[in-house]
Order: sequence, then structure tokens, then C-alpha cells
Amino acid sequence: MRIEYLEKEGLFRLIAGETEYVIGIADEKYVGHVYFGKQIEDNRCGCLMRTEEAPFVPSKNLREKCSFADTFPAEYSTWGMGDYRDSCLNVRSAAGFRGCELHYQGYRILAGKPELPGLPATFCQDKEGKDGRTLELECRDEVLGLKVILRYSVFADSEAVIRSAELVNEGEEPLYLERVLTACMDMDMEEGDMLTLAGSWARERHMVRRPLAFGKQMVSSFRGESGHQDHPFLAVMGRDAGQDRGEVYAMHFVYSGNFMAEAEMSQFGSVRLLMGIHPEGFEWVLEPGKTFITPEVVCVYSHEGLGKMTHIFHDLYRNHLIRSPYLHAKRPILINNWEATYFDFNTEKLLEIAREAKKRGVEMLVMDDGWFGDRNVDEGHLGDWEVNEKKLPGGLPHLVEQVRALGMEFGIWFEPEMVSPKSKLYQAHPEWAIRIPEREPVQSRAQYVLDLSRPEVVEYVYESVARILRSAPISYVKWDMNRQMTDVGSVWLGQKHQGELFHRYVLGLYELQERLIKEFPKLLLENCASGGARFDPGMLYYSPQIWCSDDTDAIERLEIQEGTSLLYPLSTMGAHVSACPNHIVGRVTPFKTRGYVAMAGTFGYELDITKLLEEEKHLIEEQVKMYHRFQPLVREGDYYRVASWRENHRYDCWQVVAKDKSEALITYVQVLAEPNWHSRKIRLKGLDPEAEYRLEEIEMEANHQTKVGKTTADQIYKGAFLMYGGLLLPRLTGDFMSKMIYLSDVRICR
Ligand code: DGJ
Repeated sequence: MRIEYLEKEGLFRLIAGETEYVIGIADEKYVGHVYFGKQIEDNRCGCLMRTEEAPFVPSKNLREKCSFADTFPAEYSTWGMGDYRDSCLNVRSAAGFRGCELHYQGYRILAGKPELPGLPATFCQDKEGKDGRTLELECRDEVLGLKVILRYSVFADSEAVIRSAELVNEGEEPLYLERVLTACMDMDMEEGDMLTLAGSWARERHMVRRPLAFGKQMVSSFRGESGHQDHPFLAVMGRDAGQDRGEVYAMHFVYSGNFMAEAEMSQFGSVRLLMGIHPEGFEWVLEPGKTFITPEVVCVYSHEGLGKMTHIFHDLYRNHLIRSPYLHAKRPILINNWEATYFDFNTEKLLEIAREAKKRGVEMLVMDDGWFGDRNVDEGHLGDWEVNEKKLPGGLPHLVEQVRALGMEFGIWFEPEMVSPKSKLYQAHPEWAIRIPEREPVQSRAQYVLDLSRPEVVEYVYESVARILRSAPISYVKWDMNRQMTDVGSVWLGQKHQGELFHRYVLGLYELQERLIKEFPKLLLENCASGGARFDPGMLYYSPQIWCSDDTDAIERLEIQEGTSLLYPLSTMGAHVSACPNHIVGRVTPFKTRGYVAMAGTFGYELDITKLLEEEKHLIEEQVKMYHRFQPLVREGDYYRVASWRENHRYDCWQVVAKDKSEALITYVQVLAEPNWHSRKIRLKGLDPEAEYRLEEIEMEANHQTKVGKTTADQIYKGAFLMYGGLLLPRLTGDFMSKMIYLSDVRICR
């Protein structure tokens, strides 16, 4: 890791592992993007900005300033002064004029990485910041009196480059920020593909790859959350790039609200990537002396395909974003009552579930929606966070005490950001809901969103949650959010600041979760939003795990978890075994397969265990043992995608390999049975070619112990054999069948 300034050449060079990022200061102090890719370390690389080609820089050819601006590879593009590609920044002056042009003023290279006040951000592990460096480039628009600091950080153990921007109004009049994205990146790519994650409720983060074409291609959200539909991620890649080969340039946004991510191919075949807060509905009034900081963007380059990109994101998030004490700790195996009972439960029913679950080795009971106010359907009482004593006589302390007496921990569900029209809270404070005065507010799931830009609302919400957590020993909170924003208005913000509401809401949310984890440092927090509508790096800063999707069907989950694990470590993906027929798709899959798929995440149950067959309860005991055995590997290891059911329409296979390559776990799901085929050859990845691995087939059978295949000399293979020759897996009979195989280096006794 290194950041250096080459004064003679006017270049800044950032080295992160094998990756190099170069920024150039062109004549007239335009800040240009020179290079992002595999390390080249050539001081002549400034020529890649092409300022010597026509139409030159304005100092040499003023009559073509516009052509210059429209082709120059900008580090932070601005609107209205000749660059017609999409820009990062658009500012309106107090007099009402739009236009902005930035010129370089100076730089600082700092040890460590500054925090972004109020925002989630990657951080150094070392308290003195010895494992990080930050470059700050100071730029200015003299006419507006606007200072912009462009920040770039790198870490000693990562190849990612982290970007953000800070804007300071140094003038005497307010400035109106109509658009403030975090970053753009210009590159040459006349042919390539764009990769995004897309979906809907119950089918989040499916990978979508499409050819890049002339013009703008964008994914975005202005729903007030990152959303089910699009994800704040974008990559462009060579046509030939795949899991293990080819170039990939990726950007991921550390933010949980509105976003846009765009790839724009220009008239000259160059591509500009842009990422930041969505400008739709956004306007920030920057008063004199005030500062606005953008959320950060993680930029990743890989010359070894998506696999390497995935490893860079996983390690960055595990080492520099997730703060929870649970990051490297075993998470309790939980059972959640949502799919078991929905709203129809009471203390006795919950205890019945807890007793049976405890017998089988489950460690925590989570009480989901419906425990407060008079909430027996989803129409009521969000906002009235008082225990419903009709359902839970003796209140929460009594229930928690009984659950803990069984030797289990207790967790609880909240949806703190919402209010139901029927609640006492809404009757008392209709002005606390986000709405446009004079308009009937739009309901969604019969609820409104609270105005978190308002400090008294943040205070009320915080105290509602904290009061409950102080009342009993509660180990876990599922923080849910079940609607998107509409009629975005705040009577509190007044006429001038309405454009700030979306972003101020997200800042309010971050403040709430920050306070929560500070007051309850041992709390295991799991974020959730109608399943996975706010599964983003921003939320990971507060909670080490996020509920992936309301779709718990093992086969649907293959694609959801494939897309999610493209960027997120397996330890962050909330995944549970649920009952069949599955409540969302009605599919029936083997209990064993449901267990294997959920084991690629945080693992738990989402069913009424008291209604299961004895055989299934035995399988739970087996799964619990497997979880204890394998979860450190799943949590800490390197994830490899071996085969994708999305691509081959037949089977799915992934692998987790220990960092020291001493062990590996392979999960194989044969989605549809195929007649008359020979065995399937699976080439493994990431092993030590020289090591000898003992192969164990994990056989999980009801009424039996988990069987480990007999180890004979035939079951010991060299890593090279397994990676280049392959492992022969017999065809399985029946749809949705699966297998798990464990490899351990014979030199190491486990
Ligand atoms: C949506 C979540 O994703 C579900 O798991 C459940 O908690 C419901 N909300 C409860 O309303």
C-alpha cells in the first residue's frame, strides 16, 4: 500500500496490492483519471489522459474548450461547462445560475482514513491508522466559492480504492447542490458487458449481465431505500471475462437510500461509470461555511474475473467495514416464529416452539412481528411499542425469563421507522409521518414512514426500542422496514429544505442504529427490509448480518444467495430452513437440501418445529451438529463459485476454502434430476495443489448419526488432482437433491 506524488509528472499514484490507480493534474489544473488496473508503475502514464491529442487543453486551444471538456477523462465531472456526459456535481448559485468547474489547488497524503461523520465508512484496523493511507485532493470553483475535497483511501491488505467527496461553501451566499454523486471513473472500453443485481420482493439480487451499448445504462432507486429492485452496485467487464478470467471494474455504494449507478458509453467509445445519491428529488442547501460529505464508493479492479472481485469485496467488508463483536464469533442458531405462526401466537405457543427447538440444539428464540399494541394483522399499531399483554401475559420480562430458563437466548422484532394510521402515535402526531400537507398520504402495507429528519422523532423511536431492550435480557434484534417512500414531504424541514429529506432520513436511521449498538454493545443486530430491500454495505456497518430475502425456498435461494455472495461474505447473509410446501413458491424440497443451502448463510429455522415429523426433528439435530462443525470455515473462509444453476439450468455448486487452504467445504445441489447420464466432473478451486486432501462425504440421515464416508487411500487426493482433474460426483436420483463434501489436508489433524 502506497500513495505517492510525482511532482514533475503531475501524477498521484495509489498502489493497493497488485492494483494501481493514477490521477493526473492536466494543464490548467483539471483533475484527470489516468489509470486503474494492474500495476504498471510507469511515470509516463499521464499521456493516457490524451491531453496532447486534439483538441488539447484550453490553454493551447481555447476555441475548442468544449470539445476538451467533453472528452477529458475527469476524476469528478461537473455539469454545465462543456462535459455533456453525465456529471457528479451540479450546483445552482444563489442568483439561480447553474454550472461548475473545478481546478486543482493542492493535496495531502494522510496516514489512516478519516471517518465520515454520520455516515457508514470503511476504517483502518490499526488505531493509529498504520494500515491505511488517504489522498486528499483539494479543488475549487472560484466563481461559486466552492471547495471540493476528493478523497481516495487504500488499505495494506486490500486492492480496493475507496472514494468520497467533501464540499465546503467558502462563499458568502448559500449554494444549492442539485446533484452530488460520489465518484465517476472514465475508461476505454469499446466493447464490454455491464453486470448489475436486480430483482423484486422475494427474488432479490439476481445477477444480470448485458452488453454495454452507446448511451446511458443505469440502475437506481428513489424509493428511499436501496431496494429490492436494483442494487447499488455496477461492474463493467470484458466480453471474455468470467468467474476466473478477464477484467472487471466494479463500484459498490456504502449507502442505504436513493442511489444511481450508471455506465455511459460516449461518442468515442469511452465508458464513464458514475455512482452516488440519486439526484431525483434531491437538493441540498449548503449555507456559507457548511460542509456536505458524500457516502463512499468502493472501487475494485480485478484481472482475474468475478472470483477475484468477490474476494476483494468479502475481505474488505470483513476487515474494514463490519464492526460488530459477532463478526468473528459464532452466531446463535435461532428459530424465528414468523412463518410458524405469523401474528397468531401467545406466550404458550412461543414456549412450545422454544422447548422443542431447545431439545434439538437450537440456541435462540426470536419473536417476530405482532407482540405489541393490538397488532393481529398488518394494519395496526406500528409506533405503539408496548407489549400486548393479552398475548404475552406477564409481559416481556416473564416470557424472556422462561425462554432463558430453558437455556436459550431471546431475540425480538421491531419495525421502528414506521407508524400505522391506527396507532396512538399517529393520532397524537400525524405531523411525524412523511407526507405532503393537503394530500391524503399514500399507504403501503397499511403504514406510513416516520420523518427521521426530525430530531424529536429520532428520539421517540430510539427510546421506544431502547426501553424494551432495557426491560429484559434480549440478545438479538431484527430491525425491519416494510415500505418504500412516497409523498416525500416534511412539515419540519420547511419550504427551502424539502430536497434534503431523503438523505436526512438515512442520516437519522444511521444515527439510530449507531446509538443502539453503542448502548447495547453485545446486541446481535440483524437488519431486514421486507426481506432484502436494504441489504447494502451501509447497513453492514451497523449489523453483521442482514435478512437476505423473504423467500426461504432452497431453490429460489440458490440464485438470491449467488447474487448476494458476489459482494457480501457468507457470514452476512441471513438464511433459514423453512417448512414445505414453501410459503412463497409452494415447492417441496428435501429437508437436507434446505439445511445445506441455509448453511451458506447465518443459519437458523423459520418454521413451527412442533409440527414437524420426528424424522425431520432428527435432521435438525444433525444440521445443528454440522453447523457447529463447519460455521467457522463458512464465516472466515474464501468463497468460490464453482457452478451456477442460473447459467447451466441443471446444478449449482459453491465452495468455501480456509485461508490457509487446510480445509474446504463443497456444496452441490442438483436442481433437476436428469435421466441416463454419467457422473459429473466438478473442478474445485482455491486448494493447495501440493496438499493431500482427505475427502469426506457428509451423509445426513434421519435417525442416524451424521455419517462420514469411510476414509480409504482412494479418498485422499492431491489438490492439483481435484482442481485440474476434478472430482467425480455421481448423479443423484430425484429433483433438488444435494451433497456436501468436506476436504481436509491430511497433514493437519482435526
Ligand atoms: C418482513 C420480514 O422480511 C419478515 O421476515 C417478517 O419479519 C415480516 N416483515 C413481519 O412483518
